Amino acid sequence: MSHISDDRIPNNVDLSSDKRLQRALEQWQPQFLDWWREMGPEGFQGRDVYLRTAVSVEPGGWAHFDYVKMPDYRWGIFLEPRQDGRLHHFGDAIGQPVWDEVPGELRNMLRRLIVTQGDTEPASVEQQRQLGQTAPSLYDLRNLFQVNVEEGRHLWAMVYLLQRYFGRDGREEAEELLKRRSGDGDRPRILGAFNEPTSHWLSFFMFTMFTDRDGKYQLSALAESAFDPLARTCRFMLTEEAHHMFVGETGVGRIVERTCELMKQDANEDARAAGGVDLPTIQKYINLWYTLSLDLFGGEQSSNAADAFAAGVKGRYKEAARYQDHTCLGATRPVEEVRDGRVVTSDVPLRNAMNEVLRDDFVEDCQRGVDRWNKSIREAGIDFQLVLPSRRFHRAIGAFAGVGTDPSGALLTQDEWSRRQSEWLPSDADEIYIKSLMQGVHEPGKIAQWIAPPRRGINGQAFEFDYVRLES
Ligand SMILES: [Fe+2]
Ligand SMILES: [Fe+2]
Repeated sequence: MSHISDDRIPNNVDLSSDKRLQRALEQWQPQFLDWWREMGPEGFQGRDVYLRTAVSVEPGGWAHFDYVKMPDYRWGIFLEPRQDGRLHHFGDAIGQPVWDEVPGELRNMLRRLIVTQGDTEPASVEQQRQLGQTAPSLYDLRNLFQVNVEEGRHLWAMVYLLQRYFGRDGREEAEELLKRRSGDGDRPRILGAFNEPTSHWLSFFMFTMFTDRDGKYQLSALAESAFDPLARTCRFMLTEEAHHMFVGETGVGRIVERTCELMKQDANEDARAAGGVDLPTIQKYINLWYTLSLDLFGGEQSSNAADAFAAGVKGRYKEAARYQDHTCLGATRPVEEVRDGRVVTSDVPLRNAMNEVLRDDFVEDCQRGVDRWNKSIREAGIDFQLVLPSRRFHRAIGAFAGVGTDPSGALLTQDEWSRRQSEWLPSDADEIYIKSLMQGVHEPGKIAQWIAPPRRGINGQAFEFDYVRLES
C-alpha cells in the first residue's frame, strides 16, 4: 500500500491493523514531542514555516508545501512499496527470498545498525537547535527547519523498525534514542561527528554537505538490504536526504561566491576586511567536517562490515546496478596502515574492506561538490583552489586514528602535529571570528553580507518569499 493514512500517526504501513504496535507508537509519540520541544529548534516553534510534508511515496508529487507550525508537522512512517519476489542479490544467500521479519541470528547486528542510524537523526537536530536566531535569511531559516523536521521523521522511520520488529528490546532502544544528547558528557550520541558543536552557519553548511552525505551512503548501503522493511524505509529516506545535501553544497557555494565578490572589492583581496569569510578559513572547515565525516564509515578493515555483507544486510552503493560480482569472495582491496612509523599498503579480503569501498564513493561524491565550488572561484578570476584533505588526515577511527599528518597525508611527529594543527583546522580565533559574522537577518528578501543569495527559491517561490512568517 502506498497511500498515506491521515491517522494520528500518518503511515503507509497499515498501522491500524496492528493494535499492539499502534499503541506502542502512540505511547512513544508524546515522548517524541516532548523531546522536540526541549531539544528541537530554539524559538520559532509557534511560527508558520513554509515546509514540505510527505503525502505519498510515489516519485514525483510526493511532497506537499504549505505553512506549518513545526510542532504540528505530520511526522510519520513511510516505506516504499514492496516489490514482490525480491531476492538476496549479494552476499552468501544470493537468490533466496528476502526477509520480512528479522532472522534470529541477525537480530543483534540489525538492531545495532538501526539504532546507530537512528541515533544520528535526533543528534543533528540537537546540534543545530540554536542556529535559527542567526540565520542569514528567511530562505536559509526555512531550509534549516526543513532539515530538522525531516531528521525528526527519519527518527520515526528507525523507531518504527525497532518497535515493529524487535519487541521489548526495540521499545527500550526507542526510548533511549530520546534520552541521549549530542555532546553530553554522560549520555552522548553514539558517533563522534554527532557530538561536535555546530554552532554557526558555516559549520551547518559543512555538516549538511559532508555529514548528511555520509548519511546518503549509509542509507544507500542499507537500501540494498535483504531485510526488506529496512531497505524500503531507507529508500524513502534518501528522497528526503537529497535536499539536505543540496542545502549544504549550495550553502558553502554561496559563501564561496560572496567571498570572491568581497575579495574583489578589497584592495588587498582580503575577504575578512570586507566582512566575509576568507577562502583559507573555508578550507579549514572543509578539513574539519570532511574528516569527521570520513570517520563515520568506520575502520578500513572491519569484520562487522564483512559479516553484514555476507549476511546480505548491508551492500555496496548501488550494489545491484554497479557490480557484477556480488559475492566478493576471493577479491581483495588495498588498504593503508602505519607500521613502524611508515605507511604500508596491504591487500585485504574485499569483504573486510567494505567500509573503505563505501568511503571511496563518498570521497568521489564530495570531490564533485568541491569541483563546483572551485569552478565559481575560477570564474571569479581568483587564483585559489579548495581541496579535500587526504583521508589519512585528522582521523579518530581506523588505521590513522591519532596519527598526525598534514592535509596531504605526510606523517608528522606528535610535536609537529600539535604545533601545526591550527594551520589546518579551525582555531578558537577562527570560531570567534565566524560567530561574530552571525547576525540574524529575518526580513523577507534580505541577506547577511557574508553569503550570496540563492539562484532560486523553494518550490518555485522567489528568494523574497516570506518563508517563515515572523509577524503574527
Ligand atoms: Fe536523516
Ligand atoms: Fe539529513
